[in-house]
Amino acid sequence: MNIDQQKNFTKPPHSYWMDSTPQPEYPTLQEDIQVDIAIIGGGFVGISTAYMLHSQGLKTAILEADRILQGTTGHTTAKITSQHGLIYSKIKSQMSEEFAKQYADANESAIKMIEKIARENNIECDYVPQSAYVYTLQDWYIDKINDEVKVASSLGIKATYLEEIPLPFPIKAAIRFDDQAQFHPRKFLLPLAEKIAASGCQIFEQSRIVNIEENDKYVLITRDGKKVTAEKVIIASHYPCYNKPALYFTRLYPERSYIVAIKAKEKYPGGMYITAEEPGRSLRSQNSDQGELIFVVGEHHKTGQGEDTVKHYEALIDYANEHFTVENIPYRWSTQDCMTLDDVPYVGHFTSHTPNMYIATGFGKWGMTNSIASAMILKDLIIKGESPWQDVYNPSRQTILASAKNFIVENLNVAQNLINGKTQPLEHDTNIQKGEGKVIAANGQRSGAYRDEQGTLHVIDTTCTHMGCELNWNSAEKTWDCPCHGSRFTYEGDIVEGPAVNPLSVDKDVNTIEKLIKDDY
Ligand code: FES
Repeated sequence: MNIDQQKNFTKPPHSYWMDSTPQPEYPTLQEDIQVDIAIIGGGFVGISTAYMLHSQGLKTAILEADRILQGTTGHTTAKITSQHGLIYSKIKSQMSEEFAKQYADANESAIKMIEKIARENNIECDYVPQSAYVYTLQDWYIDKINDEVKVASSLGIKATYLEEIPLPFPIKAAIRFDDQAQFHPRKFLLPLAEKIAASGCQIFEQSRIVNIEENDKYVLITRDGKKVTAEKVIIASHYPCYNKPALYFTRLYPERSYIVAIKAKEKYPGGMYITAEEPGRSLRSQNSDQGELIFVVGEHHKTGQGEDTVKHYEALIDYANEHFTVENIPYRWSTQDCMTLDDVPYVGHFTSHTPNMYIATGFGKWGMTNSIASAMILKDLIIKGESPWQDVYNPSRQTILASAKNFIVENLNVAQNLINGKTQPLEHDTNIQKGEGKVIAANGQRSGAYRDEQGTLHVIDTTCTHMGCELNWNSAEKTWDCPCHGSRFTYEGDIVEGPAVNPLSVDKDVNTIEKLIKDDY
């Protein structure tokens, strides 16, 4: 397969994790219910937190907007590691040594907890112990690597400084963490969901929460108008689907990144790798029915912003060909991450004034250990009233104030995108080919048009239903993406990712638009 053939994308993106596991179905909520704990979101945090709380005897329900474990959990790289770039020196210098220690303990404990849950429940999830490496190709990063080794070691992590790593190219310096692991996240979580459902934890799919009312208890309302009355609520919907009064959208921003799974002539040397510098590149392997796959990962950018997204897959393919003899590319997919202002997740009480509402979000690119650490923190906060790691993860931590510059930069970026979307001159090029999406002026309104492979035109109103920013076309995934807070929609207007809770308006007058386009030819 030559490089042009590798870049000839005839099939839509599809994740290996999704392709190699079945998708069980859980019912939609059909009646009003009462529970102790309502968890919004059936991803890694939702399932694992329910597992921990349900085993404490609490009546728990999971409300998933779509299908469980299909979002970020089904599109991750699935590294189980406490090595999150060069995070420890950053937390120590910007927050405190105590916070760095809490973060290290939480993530090292999370590695052990995943292994423990798998073992205790006889879950076969391709769990493989691995070392994790951060490496640099640049001289000026050597001191940073050295510093991270010292800080991580002082926190009790097995960290080693290296000048060579097993990858087939020279580096300037690297840090290795031992006793890390990789696994198949859906092979781990689907049996766990099945187990908790069998023992009475309620899981509802296609049950999007569109509002939360607060009386003496919380009342969650689904899109179908059904009510879930709960003593306590956990928002684990990735980007929070509920913001009042915490305004999480002012301190979270979404990023997309890309993965190509290659088959190579060379055997992969083992290990999980990531660059310290930009452009970020990450590697790991995975045994599959098709033999050994190598995941080549990188190319992050803000959701809904930037160039033609197909170029990101192409850049990873170029990188793969520089370092391996690529024989085939069976899979490619992309994912979305929520980034915080200081790179540490927000896990704990939703605000300091909401003792019975909790949140877990903002895991950056490090969702595996942070998800299970979140489940452990939330369980402790609910059962014991405190967690040994609550301060560093506290969503209301005072140290976020130190990120004021990031706060201004991110919110200016949102404001700019809001204005640009409204003022951008509309093109009158309405020649839309099969498989192509474009912003067009339809009846004088900014509209999004996509022509499917059968030739049918789909036209939507590009105004995001979250807070009114204008959507942009994502050519790689064939979706309409919001540059403000990352909501994504199919070309038919259905929600792919929140925070939006309502679909897009569909232009009913497609025939007229089609005629205008034909006239334009
Ligand atoms: Fe907030 Fe679109 S996601 S305006």
